[in-house]
Amino acid sequence: MEEGGAVIGPENGAGADAEGDAVMRCRGFSLWYGKVQALKGVHFGVRKNKVTALIGPSGCGKSTLIRALNRMNDVIDCVRTEGEIEFLGRNVYGPGVDVTELRTKVGMIFQRPNPFPMSIYENVVYGLRVHGVNDRRVLDEAVERSLKQAALWDEVDCRLHEPALSLSGGQQQRLCVARALAGGPEVLLMDEPTSALDPIATAKIEDLVYHLKRDYTVVIVTHNMQQAARVSDFTGFLYLGELVEFGETEQVFKRPKEALTERYITGSFG
Ligand SMILES: Nc1ncnc2c1ncn2[C@@H]1O[C@H](COP(=O)(O)OP(=O)(O)OP(=O)(O)O)[C@@H](O)[C@H]1O
Ligand SMILES: [Mg+2]
Repeated sequence: MEEGGAVIGPENGAGADAEGDAVMRCRGFSLWYGKVQALKGVHFGVRKNKVTALIGPSGCGKSTLIRALNRMNDVIDCVRTEGEIEFLGRNVYGPGVDVTELRTKVGMIFQRPNPFPMSIYENVVYGLRVHGVNDRRVLDEAVERSLKQAALWDEVDCRLHEPALSLSGGQQQRLCVARALAGGPEVLLMDEPTSALDPIATAKIEDLVYHLKRDYTVVIVTHNMQQAARVSDFTGFLYLGELVEFGETEQVFKRPKEALTERYITGSFG
């Protein structure tokens, strides 16, 4: 254990309790960028049909951790990992894992909306087409279902063949959610999905996240503690690459176990 934070693990009860019916589990997961260690023995479970928020000051490793969950860090040279991240009982860093399949099942929404420069319709069905699905009826159904789930259908049903880039930023972000949903994911990862949006578009995404957990599991990184408190069921507080505290959101915010968490939440630093 390093000064300034405890790694929450099964040994002290907190991690084991919070793992419950986890769809993903980090077990002693560490990550280095070259010689710089960005994650230190992170241990927690992502609970099914819940929203898990990752909070902490800039540079503490939130993006690194969320990207590690679907191996988005693979594209960065000189990344080395230790420990395991388990998805549906299998180590995603183990041999023989189909990373494309993993990223379909564990989809990612980025900070800036990144729709493809094509129509709204083609954005949603992009992944299906890549998998060889071309049946118009199947594609139409996927578009309607995904856009409805992403709370965008009513705003775009008359303009499905217009360019996605003609949408507002908030609509583009919901389109990215629809695109991820069309692939049939289990988990959605969102790295600061509202930081480029205005308050109204932010509220729509928060509302969407809240409703998505009925069918999906969500992990969201946010700088905004009010947002974490509003949308999440579980919260993990990261500091200097360590998961200092992980637990139910209400407990972490109202009765933090670690002094560092309390200091961060009360705004003493970060
Ligand atoms: N591609 C990279 N190559 C080398 N170091 C990196 C890379 N990405 C991140 N890091 C380093 O890893 C640490 C964690 O960064 P990370 O982006 O995960 O933090 P963060 O909590 O998401 O920060 P922010 O709140 O600013 O987005 C930082 O020290 C950062 O400089
Ligand atoms: Mg980040």
